[in-house]
Amino acid sequence: MLDIYTIGADVLRKNAAPIEKFDDELTSLVAKMFETMKLGKGVGLAAPQVGLEQRLFVVQIEGDTPRVFINPEIVQTSMELEPFEEGCLSIPGVYADLDRPSGIKVQAWNERGRRFVLEAEGFLARVIQHELDHLNGILFTDRLPEKSRDRLLRQYEKRMRA
Ligand code: NI
Repeated sequence: MLDIYTIGADVLRKNAAPIEKFDDELTSLVAKMFETMKLGKGVGLAAPQVGLEQRLFVVQIEGDTPRVFINPEIVQTSMELEPFEEGCLSIPGVYADLDRPSGIKVQAWNERGRRFVLEAEGFLARVIQHELDHLNGILFTDRLPEKSRDRLLRQYEKRMRA
């Protein structure tokens, strides 16, 4: 399976580049990302998390179909914010409530090069926003108030050293 990069890795802080080639290589990368995500018991996985500076992420939440987002762009967000607990395969064991827009409209391409527009709310909207952040070098902990971020990351580092 693919290696998952964790916080501290440079690749997680890069602005990923758009994907231009929709070929077999991309299809096989997408398949590997889904497998890696499932092994890690995640609901979303972005290319930078497996060391690739590409604008691609996969999502599968329980009871929903697997979804692939290539070169995604959020074209609309709700005014309403909603708190929701987030975690990340790149910061194992760290969870925190975070406010984000409760609904979004996203445009993206799938691995076959087909463009789609999706309106999402609730958990799906949450996961999409989290994964899209990864393509811009943002981790969910960046969005926490400084104090709780520092505390959570200190605990994380302590655990990693143990
Ligand atoms: Ni993440």
